[in-house]
Amino acid sequence: MHGIDRNTITDAVIASFDAAQDGRMKEVLGALVRHLHAFAREVELRPEEWRTGIAFLTRAAAITDAGRNEFVLTSDILGLTSLTDLLQSVPGATERSVLGPFHAEGSPELPVGADLARDNTGERVLVRGRVLDLEGRPVRNATIDFWQTNAEGLYWQQDPSQQSDNLRFRMALADDGVYAFTTVRPAPYTVPYDGPVGALLRAGGRHAWRPAHFHFRVLAQGFAPLTTEVFPDDDRYIDEDAVFGVRASLAVPFVKCDSASEAAKYSLPSPFSRVEFDFRMSAAR
Ligand code: BEZ
Ligand code: FE
Repeated sequence: MHGIDRNTITDAVIASFDAAQDGRMKEVLGALVRHLHAFAREVELRPEEWRTGIAFLTRAAAITDAGRNEFVLTSDILGLTSLTDLLQSVPGATERSVLGPFHAEGSPELPVGADLARDNTGERVLVRGRVLDLEGRPVRNATIDFWQTNAEGLYWQQDPSQQSDNLRFRMALADDGVYAFTTVRPAPYTVPYDGPVGALLRAGGRHAWRPAHFHFRVLAQGFAPLTTEVFPDDDRYIDEDAVFGVRASLAVPFVKCDSASEAAKYSLPSPFSRVEFDFRMSAAR
């Protein structure tokens, strides 16, 4: 009779996956068990703490539906989503950042140079740059999928007063890789905190704020899809994003511009802000 004891249980669980067909899955599960057990040993996990953890997961499951995923949010606020992005990073390529829950297919197609701001209120911003490869050459026929909050920090999905195509677009770029659009400056907002993640943030002495940002998803044949964000570098939450999405290379100045002739070129009021950002795409793997 070979009973399990505290010294043998970890190896026994890892060995239980020995017959797994998929070698990568076996490696990941083995490491997961090893680290989970090491965690329980390190904190000498008590049964009531184990029950608290299970209750958290149960509440997360109850609140999760097609429009809200509390498990992804848990991963976000624990930095796991961002760590996974950071582990994928390719030297010289634009750094990745979280997709978030507000990306939706079906954005309206806009031409390069379009005005996205329309009747939204807020500070006008001209955003422009290029999509380049790692050698600095324009990427041909890239598309940009873009979404942002309005100046009150709300996405169209959260605000019945906004139309479903507000402040989002898809833009097909020409061979020069140049993109440009005018919009309004987005605002900081909180991740949902009315569920178990909110309770966890409060218990941990943390807030739920994200700095203002633009979301971009850049696609081009032969290149790895790039999901990232661009942040105003003077945002008050720039160094304390609740989901750890800020990278130094993604925080940029929103430069005030009071040139009337520049403003007229884009039918903007003067002054407006200007953001310049080039994307660097790595080859598809
Ligand atoms: C967002 O940027 O839209 C977002 C990201 C993570 C969690 C919640 C929202
Ligand atoms: Fe967002």
